[in-house]
Amino acid sequence: MKVCVVGTGYVGLTTGVSLAFLGHDVTCVDLDENKVQTLRAGRSPIYEPHMESLLGEAAERLTFTTDYSEGVPGAEVVFIAVQTPSLPDGNPDLRYLSSAAETVGQHISGEGEFTVVVNKSTVPIGSSNWVDSILREAFERSHGRRADGEFTVASNPEFLREGVAIFDSLYPDRIVVGSDNPRGLDVLHRLYRAVLNQTFTPPTFLPRPGEVGAVPMVSTDLASAELIKYAANAFLATKISFINEVGRLAGKVGADITQVARGIGLDARIGPRFLEPGVGWGGSCFGKDTAALITTAEEYHHDMPIVRAAREVNAQQRSVVVDQLLSELRILKGRKIGLLGLAFKPDTDDLRDSPSVDIARKLISRGARVTLHDPVASDRFRAQHPDLAGQLADSIDEVFDDADAVVLVTKWDQYLDLDWGKFTGIMRKPVLLDGRHCLDAARLERLGYRYLTTAG
Ligand SMILES: NC(=O)c1ccc[n+]([C@@H]2O[C@H](COP(=O)([O-])OP(=O)(O)OC[C@H]3O[C@@H](n4cnc5c(N)ncnc54)[C@H](O)[C@@H]3O)[C@@H](O)[C@H]2O)c1
Repeated sequence: MKVCVVGTGYVGLTTGVSLAFLGHDVTCVDLDENKVQTLRAGRSPIYEPHMESLLGEAAERLTFTTDYSEGVPGAEVVFIAVQTPSLPDGNPDLRYLSSAAETVGQHISGEGEFTVVVNKSTVPIGSSNWVDSILREAFERSHGRRADGEFTVASNPEFLREGVAIFDSLYPDRIVVGSDNPRGLDVLHRLYRAVLNQTFTPPTFLPRPGEVGAVPMVSTDLASAELIKYAANAFLATKISFINEVGRLAGKVGADITQVARGIGLDARIGPRFLEPGVGWGGSCFGKDTAALITTAEEYHHDMPIVRAAREVNAQQRSVVVDQLLSELRILKGRKIGLLGLAFKPDTDDLRDSPSVDIARKLISRGARVTLHDPVASDRFRAQHPDLAGQLADSIDEVFDDADAVVLVTKWDQYLDLDWGKFTGIMRKPVLLDGRHCLDAARLERLGYRYLTTAG
């Protein structure tokens, strides 16, 4: 099928490249000229495992452009995957979406073709109707006539996890599609058939796991699809905040939160995933989507106390690191604190709402000197946080050198495999705060570390 993807960020790029790999003819449109140039050269502008390999495999069916007229006319499916960042009041900023929809509307050819315009961006409930009206007006203005069944709007929320985005696109738990038009649902069913039935030949670098069978497609009305996305993210965020709330109590009563999490996670009704205690969640989605869910509910005079609490606990969790260091070191002013990891989670260079950046700023505001390290996200950090660029360390040794404490914030494999024994000698105080509860406490204590976690 001929497909156009508007916006080639984490979601749009993954969608476009995966669909091209599956055999569709895909044009990716982005306004960012640099991104388009990088992609044309076969390189990925984001750090995402397997992205460049898949780009290479799908190259002949992929076009990258800044020009909508190369992608939209004649496309059976147009995805809109632009950013929807939070505004200060918690509502998502829909400017990018409205501008993309407007331009798509102008470029739909309308010559005997039927286009499904798919919202892949996470948008508040009701946005698909709004996008439909923008498309309609733009189409009518540019064609000088009323739209008459040339297109329909569908919602296809994205559930990929950065760091395993390609895997999630090829082997998703489910595909959710919302549309009020059965023809739209039918087109999307055809688009995803190879994934739904798992009939494609997997890439050599990402074999199909044995347990993956047919993928369920959840077909709904528009509002339900939009709400599914918000409810899923709010639930996952709540699960993490829940274990962190219990973790703080565990620290007080002398229980081991890692054992507690394992003990409850083995209950099949609960499950072990997203039950990892630590510095809390971050990234581009959970904070923004929980805020949007609350503000949408407010429009209907509906309170969401559980979602509010999940946000509050998460905000406090970032201060827990500062509080732990304060009670251990007594004075933070002038102390040298090293932070391992800047990305909000491993295997991505995404720094949006990263706990690490927040913790660094909190420590600096308390007068501490911070040294920062990340195996992948340093360049992006330099560009996005130029005021802190001077705190970046060139090596992991520099993070430990003369440090009063080091905090493991992002669970990168590189950090898990460190030769921890060699650092105690170069630290001023061998204090290690394991912000992800992922290191071997007994071993580190044997090596001479004072080992702390977010649970004490
Ligand atoms: N990142 C994730 O893990 C994730 C997961 C699920 C859902 N989502 C949702 O998907 C959406 C996209 O997120 P993202 O992380 O990919 O964003 P992103 O910021 O990485 O990418 C957005 C891209 O859209 C481009 N763009 C903006 N306006 C445009 C326009 N008018 N025309 C063409 N291109 C335009 C930007 O240049 C950018 O490359 C958001 O709504 C987000 O909430 C993200």
